[in-house]
Amino acid sequence: MSSVTLPIVDNELKVKAVTYKSKYAPLLIKEISIPVTPGSIVKQNELLVQVKATSLNPLDCLMKNFNKGWLGDRVLGCDFAGVVIKAGSNTVFKEGEEIYGSFMEVFQRGTFSEYILFDPSTSLVCEKIPNGMSFEDASSMPMVSCTAYQCFQFYKGDLKDKKVLILGAGSSVGSYAVQIAKHYFNVGTVIGTCSPRSSDKVFKLGADGFVDYTKGVTSKINELLKFVKINGKFDIIIDVVRDEIVIDYFDSLLKTYKENGVFVTVNGPYTDDFKNIGLIDVLPSFRRIKQYTKYALGLSNYKAETEIVHSSDTYGEVIAKLYEERGLNFSINSVRDIYSDFQEGYDLIEGGKIGGKVVFKW
Ligand SMILES: NC(=O)c1ccc[n+]([C@@H]2O[C@H](COP(=O)([O-])OP(=O)(O)OC[C@H]3O[C@@H](n4cnc5c(N)ncnc54)[C@H](OP(=O)(O)O)[C@@H]3O)[C@@H](O)[C@H]2O)c1
Repeated sequence: MSSVTLPIVDNELKVKAVTYKSKYAPLLIKEISIPVTPGSIVKQNELLVQVKATSLNPLDCLMKNFNKGWLGDRVLGCDFAGVVIKAGSNTVFKEGEEIYGSFMEVFQRGTFSEYILFDPSTSLVCEKIPNGMSFEDASSMPMVSCTAYQCFQFYKGDLKDKKVLILGAGSSVGSYAVQIAKHYFNVGTVIGTCSPRSSDKVFKLGADGFVDYTKGVTSKINELLKFVKINGKFDIIIDVVRDEIVIDYFDSLLKTYKENGVFVTVNGPYTDDFKNIGLIDVLPSFRRIKQYTKYALGLSNYKAETEIVHSSDTYGEVIAKLYEERGLNFSINSVRDIYSDFQEGYDLIEGGKIGGKVVFKW
């Protein structure tokens, strides 16, 4: 039993949270009420967690900036780390356990709140924090590392000694894709595209080479073609940043579906400017639709898949193994105080292209 005194009044937990009404309304820290179950506080399938750290994803800005205000006050955020204060009898967690996770704020209250009450079986991620990992590090990774891990699940076969191209290796998702490829799946060669500011980081994560995307499309494609000429085609290409020009070069860059080759797009907007995002920025491009259609009709030898993060039975073990055996690079841009710094931190993510997570301590 936890020694925390819960601020419950008339079966409602009164907590501070980062909230918003719509795209146009400011983010505000204010008190919200979370209805609890009389007596037990949680239902059998629920957890009550005291939040210790949260982090932001581009998705959180999308959720705010597509919100027209019809749903009333929303609580920001998907990712969190914290301590279980109450555990329902049907959950696998115990009171006092340190956990991290991610759930979609579109369906429920977000995670930027002193306490969160949720059903772990419906969350994207809900895992025990590996021994020695801080709340800040744990909160920085669930959405992006789970997305990165799931990209590899589209590959049918053993990835050992295979060749992987990660478009956007300097991004948060990309940085986990590099680590997971090299140190979990033991792939032979990882090449990443990134800008010079991220090249050291990408090498340290385990990449064998990088291509500077800031030199332009022609230079980038020529570099990749040069690599393939010497080393052979890629077994899997993971596109974190919608760099879909490579679709036009599948014949030269990617193995065919008969050789298990696969191209995986991490679904996301075609802009980094999340403040001014519109519907057109989130719809799949004509190039992508054409490729999917050609493959579905049997007119293309190249398989293209789309990753949308979902819950996974094996993700937690993969992260724990990597962390315990080798350590993980968490790719954190900055750690901030939630009460003094939430707006500045949010603005950084909304502006795009910072490369790395903004984490908040509660
Ligand atoms: N489908 C899903 O379930 C899911 C889940 C999570 C994220 N996402 C999406 O995945 C994308 C990445 O998210 P994130 O959190 O990893 O973003 P992030 O950390 O903010 O990544 C931004 C970085 O991407 C790199 N980049 C931008 N344009 C590039 C290009 N043309 N080529 C190569 N690198 C480029 C830049 O790094 P450098 O310039 O420093 O190299 C930039 O700093 C977002 O669109 C997000 O919405 C989707």
